[in-house]
Amino acid sequence: MRTLREIPDLREALDAVRRRDQRIALVPTMGNLHAGHLALVEAARRQADVVVATIFVNPLQFGPSEDLDAYPRTLTDDQARLEAAGCDLLFTPDTATLYPHGLTEQTQVCVPGVSEGLCGGARPGHFDGVATVVSMLFNLVQPHLACFGEKDYQQLAVIRKLVADLHFPIEILGVPIVRAEDGLALSSRNGYLSEDERLVAPMLYRTLCQARNALEAGEAPEPVLAQANETLRQSGFTPDYLELRARDLGPVTATTREAVLLAAARLGPTRLIDNLILTLPS
Ligand code: PAF
Repeated sequence: MRTLREIPDLREALDAVRRRDQRIALVPTMGNLHAGHLALVEAARRQADVVVATIFVNPLQFGPSEDLDAYPRTLTDDQARLEAAGCDLLFTPDTATLYPHGLTEQTQVCVPGVSEGLCGGARPGHFDGVATVVSMLFNLVQPHLACFGEKDYQQLAVIRKLVADLHFPIEILGVPIVRAEDGLALSSRNGYLSEDERLVAPMLYRTLCQARNALEAGEAPEPVLAQANETLRQSGFTPDYLELRARDLGPVTATTREAVLLAAARLGPTRLIDNLILTLPS
């Protein structure tokens, strides 16, 4: 696996791939890779001739009080994991390479509608930062396919709309959530949890499962969500949101069948997110 830091080197390497008419898959990441990221690389590997991963801790998607400086940088381990998972090329640029004129001068991409509410409500500007860097990576790599995790459900919806609205000729593949044995969705942020918090953390998934079962059995959403919020509070979480939406993140109506239950909750200083797909009874 080659590791490149500069845009001209990336372009040169990919020009050679395109001349061979090979199919390129992109896996954008912020590093600190776990089995969830490797599932993205493996999915990409199955669908393309050349897998390009990126590692870039994108300052544009972090709010002023968020964990940009503390975000774990583990490049050597990440390189070994990517190579073992079948990645061909790693692009890991500096901030000055992607944003040479600084963040305030940066042209930004804003995806209206799906970026609002949920994580977008709690983290203003976050999805503009994501949409901007992902557009830039799409433009630099020009992949046929790009893989994103379904754990970041709203991010995936933002990227699907971005691709449709800006006519990027890129197929977006959502890859199912990878969970620890106790159900906790894998996330780089799980590393911030203390030993005690790590024992409590799977309650987020269990609470979502209970709520999903009740909703699929036909119970009314309002009391089910109120009960789930209360369970989370009693377990030590501070819920940020717990919402039932249609799969496209629109509101649930009387005719909605395919829905998603989404939650974000703080455990100590760590903000965890998770979601479950469900089918509402007719
Ligand atoms: O999901 C992530 O790790 C990031 O939001 C992404 C898509 C790599 C953009 O920085």
